[in-house]
Amino acid sequence: VELNWNPEMVEKQGYTHYMLKEIYEQPRAVAAAIEPHVNPEFFSVALKNIGFGQSVQKLEELDSKADWEKTKEVLKNIDRVFIIACGTSNYAGMVGKYLIEQLAKVPVEVDIASEFRYRNPVIPPKSLVMTISQSGETADTLAAIRMAKEMGATTLSICNVRNSTIDREADGHLYMNSGPEIGVASTKAFTSTMAVLNCFAIGFARLRGTMDEATEKELVKSLLAVPSQMEGVLAYDKYFEEAASKLKLFRGFLYMGRGSSFPIAMEGALKLKELAYMHAEGYAAGEMKHGPLALIDERMAIVMVAPTDHLYEKTISNLEEARARGGKVISIGTGDNEKLRAISEHYLAIPKAHWTTNSILTVIPLQLMSYHLACNLGYDVDQPRNLAKSVTVE
Ligand code: G6P
Repeated sequence: VELNWNPEMVEKQGYTHYMLKEIYEQPRAVAAAIEPHVNPEFFSVALKNIGFGQSVQKLEELDSKADWEKTKEVLKNIDRVFIIACGTSNYAGMVGKYLIEQLAKVPVEVDIASEFRYRNPVIPPKSLVMTISQSGETADTLAAIRMAKEMGATTLSICNVRNSTIDREADGHLYMNSGPEIGVASTKAFTSTMAVLNCFAIGFARLRGTMDEATEKELVKSLLAVPSQMEGVLAYDKYFEEAASKLKLFRGFLYMGRGSSFPIAMEGALKLKELAYMHAEGYAAGEMKHGPLALIDERMAIVMVAPTDHLYEKTISNLEEARARGGKVISIGTGDNEKLRAISEHYLAIPKAHWTTNSILTVIPLQLMSYHLACNLGYDVDQPRNLAKSVTVE
């Protein structure tokens, strides 16, 4: 057999692009993100490895039990959370807000790092300032964590790159565990972060007494099911590719969702901008009447993130409104949804999941649609024009 591999292809393990490889690595990355925090026998969460106050170098030597005690002490004293990040990491943070507020009943403010650092934020004494950064080197996020520390907040970082600057400077440490992410547009770091935030929110809720054991078990079970559910979504790639092949005819894209699907709409629109250089906006579906409806005609694509959850009915009525104005609909929903299938040009399905994990699944069709469209248009998906993987200057 003649092997016409070059070293680059081996690195990409046969995938045409790093981005595609990274999209397909997501089930494994998510499993690795969950693994340190979950006990698969008891379906429980323990945030044993945060290492508050420990240097990153010492994390390996942590005595998990002692550290869990220390973490409990620190977290029990927290009554407010700030999540600070840039780009895709910021959208993961928005999902985190829904999770932490719903499960642990602690108010969460999400902020873009470049805004946070210059607006003299009020950080009350018992605050936890959590930063999210794949690279751990983003200039604005680093400045934000330094500022929060100076103001006396407890800091916690979620990074992918261990021992990166942000990781080293934070009081506590969580990891995406995604492995190297080369594609400029973030994919697996995003889904891994949402998995880590699930673990954090469950662990935090248990500590604060806002969640009973039965709910913890239920949520952990649904989290552990996610990697294989992700495989299931990836298996439908040819449908996402087919949907993507029709997208270049549109003048603009409106991505919409409610609840934790709102940040997924934002992330879907960002992926389209980054990769396909097309104008897209992410919107909270309930805001449609306050402006975006005026944009809608038959050359506007409506990408609706509508998994079956407590907001589904409301999302559907927003979708009907958009369709009545001539918008062409691409919808993401749960299972074999006849209703969505009937009113959409393209219906893309995810398996039935708990609301806490839907976001990890609904983003996959959006990543792949943008990827295929960009390939179709002949753009460099791994290295989009004008963008950098790590933004280390303001
Ligand atoms: C750049 C990348 C994005 C990333 C953002 C934040 O803009 O292109 O993919 O989401 O930086 O990066 P970070 O490393 O802080 O997560």
